[in-house]
Amino acid sequence: TLADAGVLLAAYLLGSLSGSLLLGRLRGVDIRRHGSGNAGGTNALRTLGWRFALGVVVIDVGKGALAAWLGLRFAQGFAYPAAALAVVGHVWPLWHGFRGGKGAATVVGALLVLWPQALLPLLAVWALVLVASGYVGLSTVLAMASLPVFAWWQQAGPARTGFALAMALFLLFTHRGNLQRLRRGTESRFERARLLRR
Ligand code: G3P
Repeated sequence: TLADAGVLLAAYLLGSLSGSLLLGRLRGVDIRRHGSGNAGGTNALRTLGWRFALGVVVIDVGKGALAAWLGLRFAQGFAYPAAALAVVGHVWPLWHGFRGGKGAATVVGALLVLWPQALLPLLAVWALVLVASGYVGLSTVLAMASLPVFAWWQQAGPARTGFALAMALFLLFTHRGNLQRLRRGTESRFERARLLRR
């Protein structure tokens, strides 16, 4: 219906509101010129400090949650597609020249509303890999890979299973640069995580 289409469009436009690029504009910095060049929470923490990064994560998680909620409320059969479109918006944002981030925080926001149980394995894998390796990108890719496994284990329906598979594959794609840097040994690493390991 028209309402469904409206929600899907709104979800993409919401996803296109990038936390790091909007807050960066207020500060007069384009985070895409610093650190890893990624418009996301991790690079915000790396280059602009934790206060800025916290604001970025709140916006990027929040818009994923809001898009999912809009889907549930106004386009019932399309809650997961709406959430996925918010992630697509984050990666290819209309408002920021189609150069956005990698989508992790937005997936987390969507799951918060649509499938909170899935956050448990997701965050557990993410934290374990991060503490063990210090690489955020690697942690994110492996955490997202846990989603289809969890969907299979839970015998989840087609909407959840499809979302889980699509997000695992899409974030593998958005993190392709991170994986390439890992292979070359040039991926940047968080020292704090290394300290925790001792
Ligand atoms: O979601 C982004 C994170 O997984 C990696 O960020 O800046 O290290 O490429 P970055």
